[in-house]
Amino acid sequence: MSSSRLTARPPGALRGASQSASGTSPSRTDAAFGVSLAGVGRDFPGERGAQRRVLRDISLEVRAGEVLAILGTSGCGKSTLLRIAGGLDSATAGSVLIDGSPVSRFDARTAVGFQEPRLLPWRSVTDNVALGLPRGTPKADGAARVAELIDLVGLGAFAGHRPREISGGMAQRASLARALARNPGVLLLDEPFGALDALTRLKMQDLLLDVHAAAPTTVLLVTHDVDEALQLADRIILLGRKDGVDGSSIAQEIVVPGRRPRDRGSAELAELRGRLLAGLGIDRHGEARGVEKTTAMPTFPY
Ligand SMILES: Nc1ncnc2c1ncn2[C@@H]1O[C@H](COP(=O)(O)OP(=O)(O)OP(=O)(O)O)[C@@H](O)[C@H]1O
Ligand SMILES: [Mg+2]
Repeated sequence: MSSSRLTARPPGALRGASQSASGTSPSRTDAAFGVSLAGVGRDFPGERGAQRRVLRDISLEVRAGEVLAILGTSGCGKSTLLRIAGGLDSATAGSVLIDGSPVSRFDARTAVGFQEPRLLPWRSVTDNVALGLPRGTPKADGAARVAELIDLVGLGAFAGHRPREISGGMAQRASLARALARNPGVLLLDEPFGALDALTRLKMQDLLLDVHAAAPTTVLLVTHDVDEALQLADRIILLGRKDGVDGSSIAQEIVVPGRRPRDRGSAELAELRGRLLAGLGIDRHGEARGVEKTTAMPTFPY
């Protein structure tokens, strides 16, 4: 979707749309929030009572309104890190603060979008998006906000359709609208476009840029796609494991230059792409180096 098809709104306009007349919606958040991770680690129970370390010593300050992309090979702990940031899982070491206070279980300041849209098949697009509204949102405010979000993601003509009557890309847009209905201060996206075809994926990336321009929430975006990260993120972290050490930590951190939308063909981005691909264990010919399958962890030259 091109930017021109969406209404340009000043930052915060969408947030304002959800405000009740009294402004008392209990879990409403009107600001983008910073996320602070200090020494975060996660062990899972392994075999014979041993612990298996998946994440180690991750410290990171995500600025309010920043788009941070998280890259790494399959199984390195990206989703685990995202879940910990949103209070869907707990770190076994370190701490996570959102807007300066500890993240709580299923923290209402965050919303999550997944690779699959996870819509309820018997509900319309409108009713699915409405599921994301914060509890206690007055009915009229909720209806107005849902309609505005459906419009924002370009589904105005499909508001009454059921999920089976819309395409995969449309369903993913509905899912994004549902996450935004929560008015999150932090939006956590776990490979949100991973199941889409290449063209729809590019359109969804544009849509996310439009959405972020309209309501610049903080975004933590897990992706496998280096180009997607370079196009969308202010900053990219690449998770990986040091040789002989258990658990992934931050192996690369890159501040992406240039305002969005970026020129996908620029030499500057090409250089960063090469660095990130090398970090992922992929050589210039697109072949995995030193790893049998993409599920294996690369090691990183420190
Ligand atoms: N609840 C859990 N219990 C035990 N192990 C877990 C649990 N959740 C994740 N893991 C393990 O943690 C590791 C990292 O999983 P995670 O899903 O975070 O990886 P990922 O980087 O998101 O992978 P992918 O790119 O394939 O989605 C995996 O080995 C996984 O088996
Ligand atoms: Mg994952």
